[in-house]
Amino acid sequence: MICTAAASFLRSAPEPRGAIHIPIMVSEVMDGLLIRSGGTYVDATLGMGGHTEAIFLRCPDVKMVIGLDCDAEVLEQARSRLNPFADRVHFVCSNFIYLSDVLSSEGIGQVDGIVMDLGLSSFHLEASGRGFSFSRQEPLDMRMDTSSTLTAADLINRLPTDRLAELIWEYGEERWAKRIARHIYERRKRAPILTSTDLAEVTVHAIPRRYRSRRIHPATRTFQAIRIAVNRELDNLKEALWSLPACLRPGGRLCIISFHSLEDRMVKRAFKADGRLEVLTKKPRTPVPDEIESNFRARSARLRIAQRIDL
Ligand SMILES: C[S@@+](CC[C@H](N)C(=O)[O-])C[C@H]1O[C@@H](n2cnc3c(N)ncnc32)[C@H](O)[C@@H]1O
Repeated sequence: MICTAAASFLRSAPEPRGAIHIPIMVSEVMDGLLIRSGGTYVDATLGMGGHTEAIFLRCPDVKMVIGLDCDAEVLEQARSRLNPFADRVHFVCSNFIYLSDVLSSEGIGQVDGIVMDLGLSSFHLEASGRGFSFSRQEPLDMRMDTSSTLTAADLINRLPTDRLAELIWEYGEERWAKRIARHIYERRKRAPILTSTDLAEVTVHAIPRRYRSRRIHPATRTFQAIRIAVNRELDNLKEALWSLPACLRPGGRLCIISFHSLEDRMVKRAFKADGRLEVLTKKPRTPVPDEIESNFRARSARLRIAQRIDL
């Protein structure tokens, strides 16, 4: 049920700065979470607050949403968007691997559902100024949590070439990884690579012209790989897959949207191997064609859902 009062409230909410993030597979996630009156939910990747907003629109009587994001700037964007529900959202700047500590410190036991929408938000690409996008000249940073120390420039300029190639191959599934790493090495011998456009240029030149994709920018996979490494995204996911089920009450749901085959495989295997969970999606759910058409970012989304069992 959509609450019209809440919807009109939202129309008057302040616009987020510089970027709108369209939440992915909203109705599938809301159905998956089994949103109910009086329920307490966790949005472990709050981002611009799209899924949290949808929770309140689906069920205006939800008791509380605990919204985590490791990026303090993103959290401020969400705070402004979710202003109409501010009394029932707990905004927490934290890595989701610490969710059980966060819940304890808020005096909350187990919750009714957790959503994780992995990766980065449109804010990162379009307004953060941190070099996530190959089409903007920005410092090569790529940290979501700006209190961490390692930047993309550190990796690009310091990693040994074979390690760089391995990383671009593994996290970016980029067939030209070795060539790209070699070109980066040659370029950084002359001068450090310090901006996103510098990295994009080196990457594009490393790929033979006739093999450059016309569908996606030729630097897409390399940027993805570096971002995943800088933010330790796979390590964090692995840790969360182990620790999050304990935060759910029996019957509570865990919905995870991933965008990378390595992530999806990790989720699939962890769900299957976890004796605390019943897998509800034998195959991952994918967005309907209309959603992909209206939101290009949705094209690689995979949603998996599991339910905490009563042990
Ligand atoms: C795809 S966005 C979420 C978008 C959100 N669902 C929406 O509709 O607006 C992912 C968010 O997760 C955050 N994030 C990524 N890794 C995280 C982690 N390990 N802990 C907490 N937040 C994380 C990012 O900063 C980003 O804002």
